[in-house]
Amino acid sequence: MNNYSFTVIIPTYNEIANIENIIKAVLSVLNKSEIDGEILVVDDNSKDGTIDAVKNLQKSYSNLNLIVRLEDHGLSQSVVEGFFKAQSDIIQVIDADFSHPVNLIPQFYYAIEDEKYDVCIGSRYTKGGDIQNWPLKRRVISLGATGLGRVLFPDVTDPVSGFFAIKRDVVKNSELKPRGYKILMEVLGKGKWESFKEIPFTFKDREVGESKLKISTMTDYISQCINIGLFAFTHHDTKVWKEWMKILKFGIVGLSGIFVNTAVLFAFTEWAHLYYLISSFFAIEASIITNFILNDFWTFKGGSNNKFSRKWKRFLSYQVISICGTLINMGVLFIFTDLVGLWYIAANIIGILVAFIWNFFVNRNVTWRATK
Ligand code: GDD
Ligand code: MN
Repeated sequence: MNNYSFTVIIPTYNEIANIENIIKAVLSVLNKSEIDGEILVVDDNSKDGTIDAVKNLQKSYSNLNLIVRLEDHGLSQSVVEGFFKAQSDIIQVIDADFSHPVNLIPQFYYAIEDEKYDVCIGSRYTKGGDIQNWPLKRRVISLGATGLGRVLFPDVTDPVSGFFAIKRDVVKNSELKPRGYKILMEVLGKGKWESFKEIPFTFKDREVGESKLKISTMTDYISQCINIGLFAFTHHDTKVWKEWMKILKFGIVGLSGIFVNTAVLFAFTEWAHLYYLISSFFAIEASIITNFILNDFWTFKGGSNNKFSRKWKRFLSYQVISICGTLINMGVLFIFTDLVGLWYIAANIIGILVAFIWNFFVNRNVTWRATK
């Protein structure tokens, strides 16, 4: 059913204080930008008059639609039901409480319609994004949730945002298991998408009404993350699986580097009689070179650009990042050898592991940034 070019889903539960204003604000934005869109309010059987308020407005606006849900109460479930009842190919989700600036909506629409992105995400954590009126406790919880989400989707700065738009095809035939609050995570974890764009925005906490965030929201979220992680093992066309393959390959390369490193460290210390920290420097440099070659050809597939100058640039970047990794490696080696009293070969392996974590994340986002 494609009666419109755009659908704005507004999930609601007891939003009498906001519903009329938010509907009018969205309609006015759609009008001004001449987008032929509908609003789809998905309500979980509110008892505060929200439903009647929408029904009342429906008399004046033919493109205002309402679903009242009587079963399976929940924000994510409501949004997913909205996905399947939307009468357009491009779907936006926003909160009813004006936390998400409605005037940005056209940017989401055009990102998908004109720029052909699969997903467009309003981000509080990208450059230009912000949060207003949040108590410290909520900021900390949100940062924790975002951090956990970014383990699964490292490129997405705000994978738990409730302000986003998608092509309907992203979720068509996908096995969404909606629960909790973080429907975007579910879409990213199980939907079919390649490209995404982020739009920075300032999250304003509701001025009217109450937030419905509960403790169970957090535990639901953690099991949702685990579920998405496991889902990737049986669905290799997901983003999560592709990311994990990279970490695995980087790990295998790192393992090969440990052998190079240990062999050089041993040879230089035992046979060339160098001080172990001096040997370690050569050992690390040798493994940097072999690791770079393997990662460039295999883990990150050399990227799209195999020009010699580009390759050289990537190597320089890898080298600089690895120097920091080296310092980390040597620091740990020193601490465990001289201060803890561990055998230097064992201490060195601990140092390599710590440096590995640093190396993966920074190289992924800097050296092979273009190939992500
Ligand atoms: N249908 C339905 N069912 N809607 C619900 C339910 C529910 O059980 N619970 C909340 N909503 C609606 C609210 O009416 C509001 O429009 C929107 O979902 C967000 O609810 P809030 O209670 O205002 O959420 P919040 O401010 O704590 O959370 C926001 O931040 C999260 C990221 O930190 C929301 O934007 C979330 O979408 C977002 O994930
Ligand atoms: Mn809110």
